[in-house]
Amino acid sequence: MAAARDLKATEMAGAEPGDDAIELAKRHLIQPWPFAGSVGAEARALIGEGDGIYITDSTGKRLIDGPAGMWCVNVGHRREELAKVMYDQAMALSYNTPWYTMNAPSAELAMRIAGHAPGDLSHVFYTTGGSSAVETALRFMQFYNNVRGRPEKKLILSRGGAYHGSTYLSASLNGRPRDRDWMDGADELVIKLSSPDPFRRPRGMSLTAFTDFLVDQFRDMIARVGADKIGAFVGEPVQASGGVVVPPDGYLKRIREICRDNDILYVSDEVVTAFGRLGHVFASGDVFGIDPDMITFAKGVTSGYFPLGGVIISERLLEELRRSNHPDAMFGHGLTYTSHPVGCAVALKNLDLLEEGVLAHTQAVAPYFQAQLKTLEELPLVGEVRGMGLMGCVECVADRESKDPLQLDKDVGKRIDAHCHELGLLVRPLINMCVMSPPLVITREQIDDMVGILHEGISRTMDDLRKEGVWRG
Ligand SMILES: Cc1ncc(COP(=O)(O)O)c(C=O)c1O
Repeated sequence: MAAARDLKATEMAGAEPGDDAIELAKRHLIQPWPFAGSVGAEARALIGEGDGIYITDSTGKRLIDGPAGMWCVNVGHRREELAKVMYDQAMALSYNTPWYTMNAPSAELAMRIAGHAPGDLSHVFYTTGGSSAVETALRFMQFYNNVRGRPEKKLILSRGGAYHGSTYLSASLNGRPRDRDWMDGADELVIKLSSPDPFRRPRGMSLTAFTDFLVDQFRDMIARVGADKIGAFVGEPVQASGGVVVPPDGYLKRIREICRDNDILYVSDEVVTAFGRLGHVFASGDVFGIDPDMITFAKGVTSGYFPLGGVIISERLLEELRRSNHPDAMFGHGLTYTSHPVGCAVALKNLDLLEEGVLAHTQAVAPYFQAQLKTLEELPLVGEVRGMGLMGCVECVADRESKDPLQLDKDVGKRIDAHCHELGLLVRPLINMCVMSPPLVITREQIDDMVGILHEGISRTMDDLRKEGVWRG
């Protein structure tokens, strides 16, 4: 014990509170998704300020915030309205216990969220973010089936390319390459299906045939495992961190119908797509024409100004519980920060901003954003540019024929990001891809700047790869 204390004191020597943040981070901070070889010993680009679609790094360089933080700063940085409402709410009521009491902003927000949600989604359970929202939806499914006397109906269907969070159960659903290589999970509870990624569909297969293939696979899996064993399907309408995978037309509707026919709850994970990213408060109904049993949300609900998430639950499910033979069965689930008054007050103001113009603006600029990004396909390193609303992805390949995702050279996304950073744009690198989801307030001129920088960043990356002999495009 004493030895451990001494070691800590030695390691901390020199790390005074006034030290440069980069040094302090290297000594004391663990950042998300670290490699074992650098865990607790690295510092990432230090960001000091944000304003609109821009952030400024520690060297004073102004950058376009390409990923809007983590797909979340939807109404842009430095919105005084949001800062003010946060201050006012904290001064009025900074916190109340959700176990025995409640607050008005959470109830008002639930009403407004339900008003935007599709189908009979009527009630909101608030969480602290997206992982806890997915976790809550799944624990609710388990509880629901226990109360209905179906304790065997608990398996969860998920897909390749999915990202649903970093808590144990939500992370077990993840299907992106490498996410789970060194991590445990509740694998006995999860069944993985194919990603609905049209770019990676089997060679020579038409889009219609691909959709049929996905739907047949879904149906066959239910037949094989048994609908009486499957509790829920969880899916992002557009797989975000998996590389902005826009599913083929009609696919989600068909999956929704199969779920309904088999008494499998459809959980639409809208942690990224909700609150404006696709030009609507929720994409499930307004963009894809589906009415899920539950929708999870987070991120854009407060434009990232406060950690808040939640799950919206169907009135039908709640009514079934109320009428059950077990009126005293308890949903033993709650978080200290459920229904946080400050978070909910910020979310209400954020929703005002979306309704009063940001959604309309997003709908107006999204086609331009997509068209401009698409021009990057003229670069030979780019295999495909795809997207929807204000989400976009540039996927690089060694050659377009084989669609080899440059497995031999894993840093293509990072290389592009490094060049773009130099040029004034932050992008989010994902292996051989770069994803973009700028603040929704971005203008046409700013889109031109962004795409111009990307063009140059990718061109410089191509030069580097050629020089190193890694690529011959
Ligand atoms: C679709 C989706 N679901 C869930 C999550 C997890 O959200 P959080 O990081 O807020 O826990 C994310 C995060 O990126 C996400 O993209």
